[in-house]
Amino acid sequence: MTDVSGLSIAILGGTGDQGKGLARRFALAGHRVLIGSRSAQRARDAAASIGAGAAGGENAAVAAEADVVIVAVPYEGHRALLESLRAELAGKIVVDCVNPLGFDKQGAYALPVAEGSAAQQAAAVLPDSTVVAAFHHVSAVLLMDPAVDKVDLDVLVLGDDREATDIVQALAEAVPGVRGVYGGRLRNAQQIEAFTANLISINRRYKAHAGLRITDI
Ligand SMILES: NC(=O)c1ccc[n+]([C@@H]2O[C@H](COP(=O)([O-])OP(=O)(O)OC[C@H]3O[C@@H](n4cnc5c(N)ncnc54)[C@H](OP(=O)(O)O)[C@@H]3O)[C@@H](O)[C@H]2O)c1
Repeated sequence: MTDVSGLSIAILGGTGDQGKGLARRFALAGHRVLIGSRSAQRARDAAASIGAGAAGGENAAVAAEADVVIVAVPYEGHRALLESLRAELAGKIVVDCVNPLGFDKQGAYALPVAEGSAAQQAAAVLPDSTVVAAFHHVSAVLLMDPAVDKVDLDVLVLGDDREATDIVQALAEAVPGVRGVYGGRLRNAQQIEAFTANLISINRRYKAHAGLRITDI
């Protein structure tokens, strides 16, 4: 397994449920964690609520400082935020966990994305970064729950750069119980993002926080 112990991790939109949940688990695993926000004060407040040495700042500042940057903003703000951070994110691994979903009376459904997926949109907007797709199916509720000491799922990690997907697989395993599994090239990210709509339907029917496990590996 790749050694990722010294890597610092920034989370764009880290004031939201998903970003804070990931930040909490990475901070507990000993990583330096930087919460990003459009507001430095909101980021500092979120970091203080997590503790474990987490710090906060504006998205651009944390993106420039960290080794690895996770994108955890709603799909609506995804493209514009990444376009504004092209320089800060150049040369870095950018981990996209964004699920382009709509919601109506029938529940969640996948939105069409011109580039194919949110992850491919990130790669198109950030030609000087290495984009990896991961963490789409992990439940923010479980990540935040102090009573949950193990999160029972595989995190599928997709990308076109073997070294980068190895690093993100190892980072995923900072969350106790999680296994990082290579899930294919970035062009296959669309169905991983879209599958979250199915998981949301499962969660509603069974009152659960469902995750995926891949067998026979
Ligand atoms: N929640 C989950 O369980 C879960 C699981 C897997 C993946 N995801 C994905 O992770 C992403 C974040 O989910 P979430 O539930 O944490 O969302 P969220 O709470 O709605 O948003 C996260 C943060 O993004 C920032 N933000 C909101 N609108 C923005 C915009 N237009 N431009 C830039 N920043 C904006 C806000 O931070 P500031 O106002 O502080 O800037 C907000 O706190 C989504 O794409 C979602 O599909 C979520």
